[in-house]
Amino acid sequence: MVSSNIKNICCIGAGYVGGPTMSIIALKCPNITVNVVDINSNRIKAWNSENLADLPVFEPGLDDVIRKCRGRNLYFSTSVEDSIAMADIIFISVNTPTKETGLGAGFASDLKWIESSARTIAKFAKGHTIVVEKSTLPVKTAETIKKILYSLQDFEEEKNNNNLQKTFSIVSNPEFLSEGTAINDLLNPDRVLIGGEDNDSIDKVSSIYNNWIASNKIITTNLWSSELSKLVANAFLAQRISSINAISSLCESTGANIQEVAMAIGSDSRIGNKFLNSGPGFGGSCFKKDILNLVYLCRYYGLNEVADYWEAVVKINSWQQKRISSIIVKNLFGTLANKKLAILGFSFKADTNDTRESPSINISQDLLQEGAQLAFYDPRVKKEQILKELNSEKYGENIQICKTAIDAATGADAVIILTDWKEFLELNWSFIYKSMRKPSWIFDARICLDNSYLKDLGFNVWTLGS
Ligand code: UDX
Ligand code: ADP
Repeated sequence: MVSSNIKNICCIGAGYVGGPTMSIIALKCPNITVNVVDINSNRIKAWNSENLADLPVFEPGLDDVIRKCRGRNLYFSTSVEDSIAMADIIFISVNTPTKETGLGAGFASDLKWIESSARTIAKFAKGHTIVVEKSTLPVKTAETIKKILYSLQDFEEEKNNNNLQKTFSIVSNPEFLSEGTAINDLLNPDRVLIGGEDNDSIDKVSSIYNNWIASNKIITTNLWSSELSKLVANAFLAQRISSINAISSLCESTGANIQEVAMAIGSDSRIGNKFLNSGPGFGGSCFKKDILNLVYLCRYYGLNEVADYWEAVVKINSWQQKRISSIIVKNLFGTLANKKLAILGFSFKADTNDTRESPSINISQDLLQEGAQLAFYDPRVKKEQILKELNSEKYGENIQICKTAIDAATGADAVIILTDWKEFLELNWSFIYKSMRKPSWIFDARICLDNSYLKDLGFNVWTLGS
């Protein structure tokens, strides 16, 4: 085990990033006490639930890690102030969604949770504290955090009262985990990125990861390169998805097949075969937000052509979703009034219960506006979450949440696959066909079903990109 004088870590924010990341740090660094804190007491209660099926984040393998570490050196609580005071290193892992109103609305990140975390740290930290940015943030946020940490009135007052010298170092250590494979991504990352201003802090943060990650995988840079690299990594990944999705429409028009094209181009080692699955567009909390941040940053520096270039990635993503909704409407004789449609999958991808920016939200809303009755089934997303995402009051009886895929499909005119949950591949499609209204349609927006088998059963099948 790598020795370090880090004994106590606090993570502010017990979400999809903070929870799994800190669990793995606790697993791999048994000598470090890890306190994960959150202002949301329900979330903390869920992290502490006896029944590990009730953890707030569904992530394969996470329950095992929690079972091993919780109560040993991993603690979830709402004791934000005390945990800050005890910490040698504080990770900030709070939410940073796109601003909805005011300056930069629709593009810039809302940093109010970052600011309030920094204010609390300024007040309660003791001695020298390393503050690590874990959340995805706009470039130069470290500067804002630093200003807050050093300029607060109460900080001065407290320092005088306690006669304690408070000092801070800011480090950027963005997280690259992908939901659904977070545990493996954290255990075996392609790289860990640590950006900072002083070598001592960089070394200390590196020493945590060195407990299980080889030094050659730990990349160190200056603060701004690290912050920007996170945005750019997500922008490049999202760009690949918009590129392949743009070509999916061309395949439909020309008779080419998007999976064959993806395979053909992906076997060029310069292009590579990952992240070439065409689908209903990217969702999740990061891609759209990070590109919009990049666009905002470019415009701020007067780089309008660069901003337009990246903004197009988001535009194609929205267009792909609209395109799918209108293909469904057109195939169902141009009207969805009095038609029941089964929506299979509501999370933004398989193996997560996260619905943020899920393509299912926009596509479902388009279909509801056409007057459809939608019956939803998702193996992991709770009913309340689906209703909340859809602004369900507007649509009343037209939304039904089902306990099984079969319930959702019974009596439906169409089944629409929006998330590629493995269990959808194993459904009894012959039984489902018999239970549906005729003609019975399947719209496979994830290209995950066997369309010739389904056609043989009698279904009309539309598969994206062919
Ligand atoms: C992403 C980045 O991968 C991760 O490094 C970063 O830390 C956070 O953002 P995540 O959003 O969890 O992770 O999932 P990811 O697997 O990247 O998928 C994002 C979206 O793109 C999903 O909606 C997914 O369905 C879609 N996608 C992904 C495709 O449509 N096609 C693909 O080939 C890959
Ligand atoms: P991510 O996907 O980035 O982890 P989440 O929204 O899942 O984002 O989690 C962020 C968490 O941060 C939420 O549970 C929220 O309650 C918490 N949070 C936000 N602001 C603060 C704060 N000032 N102090 C403690 N927790 C906070």
